[in-house]
Amino acid sequence: MSHQFISKVKRTHSCGALRAADIGKDVVLFGWVNNRRDHGDLIFIDLRDRDGLTQIVFDPSVSKEAHDLAEKLRSEWVIGVAAKVRSRGMQWSKKENKEIPATNPNLATGEIEVYVTAIEVFNKSETPPFEISEHITANDELRLQHRYLDLRRPPLQKALITRAKMNAATRSYFVDNGFLELETPFMGRYTPGGARNFLVPSRLNAGKFYALAESPQLYKQLFMVAGFERYFQIVKCFRDEDLRLDRQPEFTQIDIEMSFVAQDDVFTVIEGLLKKLWKEVHNLDLPTPFLRMDFDESMAKYGNDKPDLRFGMQHTVLNPIIEKFGAEGGVGPMWEALQAKGLIKALVVSPVAPGQHNPSVVKAKEEAFRKANPNPTAKMPPPPHELSRKDIEELEKDIVSMGAKGLARAKIAENGDWTQAPLFKNAKPELRAAIIEATGAKPGDLILFQFGPESKVQMVMANLRVMLAKRLWLIPEYGSGGAWNFLWVVNPPLFEYDEESKTWAAAHHAFTRPHDEHLKYLQPESFDPSKVYCYRYDVVLNGFEIGGGSIRLHDPATQSLVFKALGISEEDARSKFGFLLDALKYGAPPHGGLALGMDRLAFLITETESLRDVIPFPKTQKGTDLMTGAPGDVDEKQLRDLYVKSTPPQKA
Ligand code: AMO
Repeated sequence: MSHQFISKVKRTHSCGALRAADIGKDVVLFGWVNNRRDHGDLIFIDLRDRDGLTQIVFDPSVSKEAHDLAEKLRSEWVIGVAAKVRSRGMQWSKKENKEIPATNPNLATGEIEVYVTAIEVFNKSETPPFEISEHITANDELRLQHRYLDLRRPPLQKALITRAKMNAATRSYFVDNGFLELETPFMGRYTPGGARNFLVPSRLNAGKFYALAESPQLYKQLFMVAGFERYFQIVKCFRDEDLRLDRQPEFTQIDIEMSFVAQDDVFTVIEGLLKKLWKEVHNLDLPTPFLRMDFDESMAKYGNDKPDLRFGMQHTVLNPIIEKFGAEGGVGPMWEALQAKGLIKALVVSPVAPGQHNPSVVKAKEEAFRKANPNPTAKMPPPPHELSRKDIEELEKDIVSMGAKGLARAKIAENGDWTQAPLFKNAKPELRAAIIEATGAKPGDLILFQFGPESKVQMVMANLRVMLAKRLWLIPEYGSGGAWNFLWVVNPPLFEYDEESKTWAAAHHAFTRPHDEHLKYLQPESFDPSKVYCYRYDVVLNGFEIGGGSIRLHDPATQSLVFKALGISEEDARSKFGFLLDALKYGAPPHGGLALGMDRLAFLITETESLRDVIPFPKTQKGTDLMTGAPGDVDEKQLRDLYVKSTPPQKA
């Protein structure tokens, strides 16, 4: 079907473009019917495209034919109109008791409306399963099944348009800085370590499998060996992991690698990119260089290596105090945790004074309250001053579901007494005083405690800190709340001890360069892998790891020391990473790099609720695509061709 509009009558403006200066112009707009209001003689519709909305008026005295057709229009029909731009005119204001301009201040095109002289319907639409609007109540499942309709909604349009801008800015930044955009294969050889891989059976090589790349890591190092010096790629990566709010099975990295660099050089390049992205999207000048914090300090103060620095509530490690007082200190369970090589931590929650709450949270809560209570005399309860008993009980429930035994606490009364603190019933006064001194707790404060196996205590305390900040309105549930706290977490240990197998494993991967001064701990005389720290770094924003990288090992001698410490034999190493080891023998330059998680970056910069809001066609928590039905069944023959047999799980 040929359309007069499109082939002959060309679009002149987008639906977000017209302003008062355009009054009197003849224009042609294309778009979707957002809604229709029939006022008898006049019919109004809001016409929508990716750029915005324009009010369209059908007036029989301008075109009877168009007006007749407009009566039939329904939501989501696609139309083209030729029209004349007019001022919205004046309207009577009861409040001001006079005529005022009838502009709509909430709309960029609110000064004007267009009177239709001709219309063409490009296509009708069935009634959509949910309304295409800013706010939506439809459930996630329905929205994901009809993702192409959900994507029509302005918030998702805005997020993806921002992401497209970020892609463009990223490419131009790297090109301007001498980086080459080089591609790497998605289908590679399986190498152990790192995330679980998706496997692809090979039809041409019976019984063999490709692994989908979890990142271009080894290839980008080979680019350095090959002499390309500066590489970048905006690249899909695939990891068969358990999914969370900030994880998808296929996701995108902004991946870079550089030759002849030290850690600082990589930081400068990445800070420059982030600066450019924030300028582009928020017109903000991020201060650089970003704060740097040692990994050990981050673990001690925040319980993880991605601390949210928008608020305080640092942890205090109490091990030295419990150790000093011994069993006589009178806090048996903490002493036992210490004996079991566990960790003991405290965190102080101080009352939040009026004015110390996050203004964006206060504003959002007020808006929500007004919506729920339209009566203008309704008074909103004040922001939380301190945790209520109910808050504490709920927090306790939450952390117990994470594996904590409970939420030990002590409230410091005005006279200095400890209340709500059964754990400290028999505690020596000197021990209490030492805890007060170490934590800096004041009368009126609440101290929360965790003790037990280190990794659990760290995880619970790290989560607790963030949950507290949300409850006390110090940070919003989602979004920046107006603060962008970037930091580099640097100098982590190279190895991790695995209690189960009683062996040392690479904390990240086996190709990270150790600090030169720690190499001695890899020699037999003074062997102690726990003392080897390395040039690995993560860049963190408001509690999310947005990127990570390292300076690599490029010399075979150190490489072989690291493999030895990891218990990887020459033979093993050869079978696993032979091609990289070979390459490193032929004059590999010193090199290092980093990968930013583009989806995380986009989700944080757009202040949306989850990665899904910045990925056009995301997967669910179970890794499914509700629109296409992936993953789906395949028939026996397809499997036979691939030399694969499917063994579905036995039904219980
Ligand atoms: P790493 O594994 O730290 O490093 O990944 C880099 C960044 O990618 C993001 N990311 C994810 N985003 C969404 N869904 C996922 N499943 C997911 N997994 C990771 C994170 C993370 O910081 N090759 C190294 C980089 C290097 O050393 O140069 C690498 O892949 O934001």
